Amino acid sequence: MCGIVGYIGNKSAQGVLVSGLKRLEYRGYDSAGIATLGPRGAATVLRTKGKVQELVDLVTTHEKSDMIGIGHTRWATHGAPSKRNAHPHVAGNIHLVHNGIIENYQDLKVMLARHDYDFRSDTDTEVLAALIDYVARDADSLIDAVRSACEMVVGAYGIAVLDTRSPDEIVVARKGSPLVLGVGNGEVFIASDASALLGYTKQVIYLQDEELAICRTSGVELSDMASSTLEPTVETLEMDLEAVQKKGYDHFLLKEIHDQPDTVEATLRGRINPTVHTARLGGINMTAEELRDVRHIMIVGCGTAYYAGMLAKYYIEQLLGDVMVSVEVASELRYRSFAVQEGTVALIVSQSGETADTLACLMELKRRGVRTLGVVNAVGSTIAREVDGGVYVHVGAEISVASTKAFTSQVVAMILFALTAADARGMSPERRSELIDELELLPSEIEKVLAAHEKEVKAVAKNYMQYDHALYVGRDTLMPVALEGALKLKEVSYIHAEGYPAGELKHGPISLIDDRFFEVFYLLDNWLYEKSQSNLIEMNARGAHAIVVTDTARKVEAETVLRVSTKLDLLRPLVFNIISQLLAYYLAVQRDTDVDQPRNLAKSVTVE
Ligand code: M6R
Repeated sequence: MCGIVGYIGNKSAQGVLVSGLKRLEYRGYDSAGIATLGPRGAATVLRTKGKVQELVDLVTTHEKSDMIGIGHTRWATHGAPSKRNAHPHVAGNIHLVHNGIIENYQDLKVMLARHDYDFRSDTDTEVLAALIDYVARDADSLIDAVRSACEMVVGAYGIAVLDTRSPDEIVVARKGSPLVLGVGNGEVFIASDASALLGYTKQVIYLQDEELAICRTSGVELSDMASSTLEPTVETLEMDLEAVQKKGYDHFLLKEIHDQPDTVEATLRGRINPTVHTARLGGINMTAEELRDVRHIMIVGCGTAYYAGMLAKYYIEQLLGDVMVSVEVASELRYRSFAVQEGTVALIVSQSGETADTLACLMELKRRGVRTLGVVNAVGSTIAREVDGGVYVHVGAEISVASTKAFTSQVVAMILFALTAADARGMSPERRSELIDELELLPSEIEKVLAAHEKEVKAVAKNYMQYDHALYVGRDTLMPVALEGALKLKEVSYIHAEGYPAGELKHGPISLIDDRFFEVFYLLDNWLYEKSQSNLIEMNARGAHAIVVTDTARKVEAETVLRVSTKLDLLRPLVFNIISQLLAYYLAVQRDTDVDQPRNLAKSVTVE
């Protein structure tokens, strides 16, 4: 979603800001802008509806040697995407960039209009800028004004503020929307996402909720809402520049699909002992006794993270037969009056660790005394900090909006949790050993599937690019794979796709089959083969244009058959899912969409 950058130091602020905004492009946005201040506070504001590249062009015609500034990429919420609504917003002496939503902005707007403030945009952010400018009239300093304004707003914010009267400082504040400060030598970098800091500094301070900071060339002064000074904790960023580069691939999506042999290995590293068939998770902060007491595992997530939970549920149920497993869409759960029973552990699944709905569920579950464990990728993210313990999936930066490598490793991490619990519950090693062996094999099997099938899938994509609709179906563990495959396809290729359990076909979706649809049918040669096969026959009888993804050597009647051969058994769904990822990617390329930043989407959905 929206991205924030800021800089104060001895470099050209315009250069640092636009390069930071370029790094944040992957988050999704529709307009962008920067504001810089000269030594006497003269402001230069450049804004554009469109890509950061247009901002780069504006900078070349309005170049300034200013060394302090703020910047923003906006994903429209209040008001359409336009230059008028783009940040930074200006009110009096105040220049402001903001992520989040000010819920009481209408009331504040009415109050401020009475004090002669005019509003040029439709945004809640301009109201916040005016509010800070208004309270600054009676405040001793910019930070006091920001603090007072923050006390008056209801909602979520990560903000960076410039005041033309104090051109040697940037004030930042956060509540519910991330901000990280990069500390250099005589310079401070500000970003909503640490990837924007790569190449400048690895020393970072993560701002916590209700904290504020003054950023000057002399360093960072951190304080809270009660004006108490806080000692900042400086951490070293683990990410490196390579993680945010395409490494020769045409798109981040393809690179991240190919990253998976390595990223699964990273998820497993140091966590399994193949000799005694056990898994060990250092960060879950649960004793063997507490693991024995688990009665219910509640998995919470959105989008792909939710589907990862759906797939993991099958493995957890197989391993821990006496534990109930439920999987919840966070945006629904947060408003339901659900009951929680004794012995519930919630797995909070999120790549970004910042998804608003998932975070809201986490806070509600914590309020109710439920133990929460994160299955998170972004180190230091809000969810990772709020949970009682957890498993980092360690897939590195995932830049493409469509999530791929995070999905695979989220499933792996949840299996590791189940294996850890199974061991604590005294389950026999035989029950765990098959899965442990397969987890060990998974990276090389993914590699083989990529090598064996990429060209084939690319060719299939050419044959199916003219369809505007797709139906993805599968049974058992392949049902979540079908749902995730349909999500991947629709988000990157804009082909309308639906995912269904194969057994549901006759209950409605089979009526969709016609010449405008193609079908992706996942078929495992297991105890459900005959049943799945009859679903396929029913579809074929109605003129389906089916692509069957299967491991069987038997004869399969279908327009296209993709035979996947792998040594895996239980984890086959994860390699079938690699085929879905490739198919979505190559169909998107065929249809010439914006593969890494599909329209209307944001990488991290930090508002409801
Ligand atoms: O960062 P999160 O894992 O919490 O994000 C959840 C969803 O927004 C995300 O998986 C989304 O569905 C992706 N675009 C799917 O590719």
